[in-house]
Amino acid sequence: MILPLIEDSTMALKVLAFNASPHMEKSNTTLILNPFLDGLKEEGASIETFYISQLKINPCLGDLNCWTRISGKCTQKDDVEALLPKIQQANILVFAFPLYVDGMPGPMKTLVDRLIALLDPYVVLKDRHCRHPARERTTRAKLVLISNCGFWELDNFAPLIAHAKAICKNTSWEYAGALLRPHGPALGYMLRKGYPVQDVLDAAKKAGKELAKNGKISEETLKTIGRELVPLNDYIKILNQGFEKARERAKLQK
Ligand SMILES: Cc1cc2nc3c(=O)[nH]c(=O)nc-3n(C[C@H](O)[C@H](O)[C@H](O)COP(=O)(O)O)c2cc1C
Repeated sequence: MILPLIEDSTMALKVLAFNASPHMEKSNTTLILNPFLDGLKEEGASIETFYISQLKINPCLGDLNCWTRISGKCTQKDDVEALLPKIQQANILVFAFPLYVDGMPGPMKTLVDRLIALLDPYVVLKDRHCRHPARERTTRAKLVLISNCGFWELDNFAPLIAHAKAICKNTSWEYAGALLRPHGPALGYMLRKGYPVQDVLDAAKKAGKELAKNGKISEETLKTIGRELVPLNDYIKILNQGFEKARERAKLQK
């Protein structure tokens, strides 16, 4: 059974967020996701958040029964059954996760694959490209990505952004931008040690407010979220020292 982490159904803008970090509330992903959702909530949005790792989401069987036998639904009995109508009704979808091998983690993609049930099977030409039109819905959902990665450079997210934009064309969602945090592990460390990084969290909150108020997030805000936290060479040194220590600890435990 699906239990949302946060539920507040009194407000207008419906936001559905998925956190696909296996570290859940302790994740670097959560450090950015939570203030972003707080910002949306302060502007009156209703929020539902799910940890992907707590959901039962089977891989797509590829039988296309959702297009032929039971239109718009999946024959598999798992948590996707309850999620499909929620996704269909959401104004804003938030996919939040750590970068895994240059893309989204497998369980997140497994959910995305299952969403073809929300498309109509008949192929049409849209902007001179084959598409399956989205099934009827009252609003066009906006997709926001939130991701953090271990490497230092912002360009690590380039394949992911291209993928997210393609997904939006495929699903008829509107791509509303990405909150990207390179050298993500540095953020939690610096917060714990009292380094001045609060501006990054404040910008994540501001992004939520901007999206609710203006329908978009400013470039300036996104830039602050992804700003350099520590020089490249220092980061490599700190990271490698951390791995060295972790390996020492693991040896001691043997
Ligand atoms: C299986 C796996 C694959 C990863 N692939 C990448 C990668 O391609 N590029 C990168 O910069 N970081 C990569 N990372 C590092 C994570 O993105 C990073 O540790 C992140 O801070 C974890 O975030 P979380 O605490 O939200 O789970 C990978 C980590 C794992 C476990």
